Amino acid sequence: MFQDQWGNPVTAANSEAVEALDRTIMAYLGFRLDTGAHLKATMKADPEMPLGLIFSGFFFLLFCQPKMHVRGLAVRDTARAVVEGGTVSMRERHYMTALDSWAEGDWGRAISAFESILLDHPHDPMALRLSHYLHFYTSGGRAMRLSSARVLPFWTMDQPGAGYIQAIHAFGLEENGEYEAAETHARRAVEINPADLWGIHAGAHVMEMRGRHREGIGWISAHEQHWASGTNNFRFHVWWHRALYHLELGDHATVLDLYDREIRAESTEEYLDITNGTALLWRLEQEGGDAGNRWEELASRSAERVTDHLLCFADVHYAMALGATGRTAEAGDLLEGMRNANVDETSSQGTVYRQVGIALTEAIIDARQGRHDQVVDILLPLREQFALVGGSHAQRDIFERVLLESALAAGRTALARALSAERVDQKPASPYNWSVHARAMELAGDGPAAAVARHKATTLAA
Ligand SMILES: [Fe+2]
Repeated sequence: MFQDQWGNPVTAANSEAVEALDRTIMAYLGFRLDTGAHLKATMKADPEMPLGLIFSGFFFLLFCQPKMHVRGLAVRDTARAVVEGGTVSMRERHYMTALDSWAEGDWGRAISAFESILLDHPHDPMALRLSHYLHFYTSGGRAMRLSSARVLPFWTMDQPGAGYIQAIHAFGLEENGEYEAAETHARRAVEINPADLWGIHAGAHVMEMRGRHREGIGWISAHEQHWASGTNNFRFHVWWHRALYHLELGDHATVLDLYDREIRAESTEEYLDITNGTALLWRLEQEGGDAGNRWEELASRSAERVTDHLLCFADVHYAMALGATGRTAEAGDLLEGMRNANVDETSSQGTVYRQVGIALTEAIIDARQGRHDQVVDILLPLREQFALVGGSHAQRDIFERVLLESALAAGRTALARALSAERVDQKPASPYNWSVHARAMELAGDGPAAAVARHKATTLAA
């Protein structure tokens, strides 16, 4: 048995395969485009390497796309035959369980397998990163934050990938509302590696949640030369964060320029790219901006994915693009599929669809068709369940915005006033929050309070 560069036991035919797998992991943690090339080299060195096969399976599943899922299942079958036919470590068996469970839709069981690995092998960055990913789309900030806390003390800064562990912890802290600590770890990650996209992203989230918009623009721009090339499509999401800051500052021209040049320069089919685009255009329109014909491309891409049903968070965003372009038949197909998919009771995503996803999607379609009262009636009792759909606080804020804008449009004055009061309390540095509060106060007939709120919005954006 070999050991990887962190001292974890690895079953392999030769050291060349183990070293190539080390490079694969480092590339994956860095969102590097050459991740696939390193994995290929791993499999070339040892076509039956258990972890090479298993990691390949994870990479297919991460696309949350049926054609990739099928390939993931095929690799899973090969990996299972290798694992069952040979002598492998308990760590590799846990990885096999994680792949099996994830592929079959039981994300909770997959998380348990990753966390079991981490109990005995806290220096396993791959198990930590994959568990972090699944927590992000299921159990949320507290689980992410505790997962990395359990391994953090055992890492020293001179270990390969130590900065990536800082970044992972930073994002968990941020999603758990521990902004100061999150920023400390994000800055540490980026000091170690200024191309660490997850560290930059964690810092960007802190600045988003604290309304530090101008600082956020600087934070992302400062490291751009290091991460803007050689990284995968996650960089579009980092650009999305920068666009959110400009949107808050009322700079719609820069938002659209970033959209056209970076966020949606290519018409990609990756779910995260589509969610970036739809969430940004929706927010832009809420703030009086003009999306032009940009919805059409997003809707076409979304229409291709109405039968996927592998990730609820993605489905809801596909509905946004379909709804925005009046493609009601396809939106109906999406909804119908969401009602009928993942009905197996062990399906983690099935639970999410039933608890919140289907209703959220109905509300999104209603909102676009002007049924504002219905939107409020659906979303208001569901607010505490929004988090089940996964994603970050910043991403899910779109649902809160839909609720508030619908309350305003439906003339539900007291509710609009209350919801906007929540927003200005939670994020007083947000021009949008003051602006929407001004609209609510106007609706309530309180002109002086509306004027104060509008002045506040203008001052903050100036
Ligand atoms: Fe983000």
